[in-house]
Parts: sequence; structure tokens; C-alpha cells
Amino acid sequence: MALKVDADRIRRNVEGIARFGRDPAGGWSRFVFTEEERKACAFVASLLRESGMTVRTDPAGNLVGRLEGVDPEAPAVASGSHIDTVPRGGMFDGVAGTVAAVEAVRVIRENGLRTRHPLEVIVFANEEGARFGNALWGSRALLGLIHPEETVRCRDRDGITLAEAMRACGFDPDRVGEARIDPNRYRAFVELHPEQSCLLESEGAAIGAVEGIAGTAWMKAKLRGRADHAGATPMNLRRDALAAAAEIVLAAERIARHECSPRTVATVGQMTVQPGGINIVPGEVEMSFDVRDLAPEALDRACDAIRDCAKRVCALRGIRIELEELGRVMPTPLAGQIVELIEETCRKKGISCRRTVSGAGHDAQLMALVCPTGMIFVPSVGGVSHSPEEKTEWQDLAAGAQVLLEVLWKLSQGGAG
Ligand code: GLV
Ligand code: MN
Ligand code: MN
Repeated sequence: MALKVDADRIRRNVEGIARFGRDPAGGWSRFVFTEEERKACAFVASLLRESGMTVRTDPAGNLVGRLEGVDPEAPAVASGSHIDTVPRGGMFDGVAGTVAAVEAVRVIRENGLRTRHPLEVIVFANEEGARFGNALWGSRALLGLIHPEETVRCRDRDGITLAEAMRACGFDPDRVGEARIDPNRYRAFVELHPEQSCLLESEGAAIGAVEGIAGTAWMKAKLRGRADHAGATPMNLRRDALAAAAEIVLAAERIARHECSPRTVATVGQMTVQPGGINIVPGEVEMSFDVRDLAPEALDRACDAIRDCAKRVCALRGIRIELEELGRVMPTPLAGQIVELIEETCRKKGISCRRTVSGAGHDAQLMALVCPTGMIFVPSVGGVSHSPEEKTEWQDLAAGAQVLLEVLWKLSQGGAG
């Protein structure tokens, strides 16, 4: 097939999105329902229109472009990713897959071709969950998995609720349920994404065909000890919430490293200490846990072990602890026929490809519940991600976009069913 992505245009579009949400402290902080994120969405919407697609924004904030196929009744073949970031995140996470999807449709359209199935590009809102602690928002909304209470329960650091942030951007939080799609809407979904790890780079492979995505559990703990005078309180009389938290951080690391499966990972990425004085024994700590594994039982075991250990540490130190699970996404196998289609496409083009799994979470995880779903990984330089240093070489991104284009073309012609 002579269809070919335009590597320069891909670069221009990635850099175009990067104009929005620069963080003065470094990297990008482009959070859902902020002015910068909305501007970035408007920019992507203009790219979708230039690609000949009709564009709509659904009640959850997902941006969806659609190019009709010969058979408008046929289920659509979709691709896409996200454009929100973690705090001080990188330039490629989510953006790479968004731009690659737009490019694929544009090339098909520019060549005057018509697919049998409609094509859709989905820019999922709030994949990272960075602002409100609620990841995979857009894809959960498509599946009807948002509890109405989530928009009033979730607050950002300034105390603004998700509902308030939505209203400020012209959305009605009471209508999120209307974002739910007909489960038969899609024939297939394929997301391109940087690998965010270093397996492809270390093996010199250009493409990863993803066989499965790890499950994630997010938890929050509140530890209440007693604030005391740092000079006058003897060590044996303290109820230091931060010392307890420190023990729990190390316990979570030990549990993930040695006590569960080889794939278990656990991270404490947030901690607030009160009252926060240099001469005050810490009275209160709030801390987060992010626990992941590819096997559901191993994920359960890791979460239980961390919870039990945190309770034990606190009991021994006279600290009260409240633990809350914020959300869980189960480990997800991806569709074998799409893995094979990615491999076959690479083989025909002489592009090196290896099967792999994803430790990071993706909207593809939710889409896999409604249609055959696949992911195409492109190498991340040094495996770095969720960092301003995150980088995918431009030629690697173009090669991945070319594979995506060919995979979408085949699927939208009715292939790999
Ligand atoms: C998303 O990037 C996640 O896996 O946290
Ligand atoms: Mn991410
Ligand atoms: Mn991502």
C-alpha cells in the first residue's frame, strides 16, 4: 500500500499541542478542564476538521472526530489517546497517540480513499487523573462507569470540585451519563503510545505489540498522631505520623519487590505533612498509594499486604489510620487478532517488532471491554516518562504512526475480524 504518513506534519502537530500548558517549573502541566487544556483541545479539533472529520465534544469532555465510511451503519474503527498530562509531565505521553491517529485519518482522506467502516479519533478527557485524582475519566464515561457523585467528591488542590471545573468550561456535570456509548458502536480500537519503559530500546525493536495492560489500584491513607514540641517531647512519648508514614513507604517498596509477583510495583507519590513546622513533631500525614500488577490475584495480594502492614505500623506507634481505595482498574488482556495484525504489518514493512506488556494504564484498557482493542508502543528514549525529559525520536514516532495507519486501514476495510 502506498499510503504514507507525513513525518514533518506529525512533528509540527506534536509541537503545536506543546504550545499549551507549559509549566514554568519545567515540562507540561496540562490538566483537565483548565484554560490551557481546552485551548489544546480546540487546536486538536482544528486538526480533526482539516483531516475531513466531523467533530463533537461529548458531555464528559471527550473530543471525537468522525469520518464516515461507505457503510455508515457499520461499527467504527477508532484510535486516539489523551492530551492531559501529569504534573510537569512530558511532551509525548498521550500526545503521540493523538497526533498519530489524526495523521492516519488525514492520509486516508488525502488519498481520496473511503473505508468501509467509519473511522473515529477519540481524544479521551482526563486520562491521567492528575488534577482530581480520578484517572481514565473519559473512557469510563464512554462505558457509563462514572458514579454521579464523583463530580462533587473529587476536588483539586485549590478545593475546586470537578463539577465546578466542568461548569467553568461550559459543561454540565449532571449530563456526564449521556456520554455513554452504545457498546456496539466500535468494531476495534487501537492506541499508539510511547512505551514509557526501556525494553524496546534495549532490544533495538521499533514497535511493541502490546498483549496486556497491568491493573492499577489507587489508595489514600490518613494518619493521625499528635503534634508535639520537637525539642521538649522525649522520643519515647511521641506519636509521630511522618515516622509511621516513612515505615509504610519502605514496607510498600519491600512488599512490591519481594513479596508479590515479579511484576508488582507500588509507589507512594504524594504526601502532605501537618502542621509542617521545623520544630513540630508531625501530627498528621496524608499519603497516596499506586499499586499495579498484570495478574488480578497478585494485585489483590499486594493491596492487602500494604493495607495490613500500614495498620500494624500505626497500631505499634499509637497512630490512627483511615485507608480508602480511590479506584481500581483490572489488568486487561488485549485482542490477539490485533497483536497479530500489528506483527504482520511490521513484518511486511521490515520493521522490528516484539510482543510486550504495559505497566502503565491506558484508556485502551476500558475500550477493551467493548471491542477488540490493541496498542502499538514506540520506544521511549532511556525509558523515561512522566517527566519533562520524556522523549520519543521523531523517526520512531513516524514509524509507529505508519504502522497505526496500516492497521487502521486494514481494520476499517473489514480485515482481521
Ligand atoms: C497513566 O499514565 C498511568 O499509568 O498512571
Ligand atoms: Mn501518563
Ligand atoms: Mn498516557
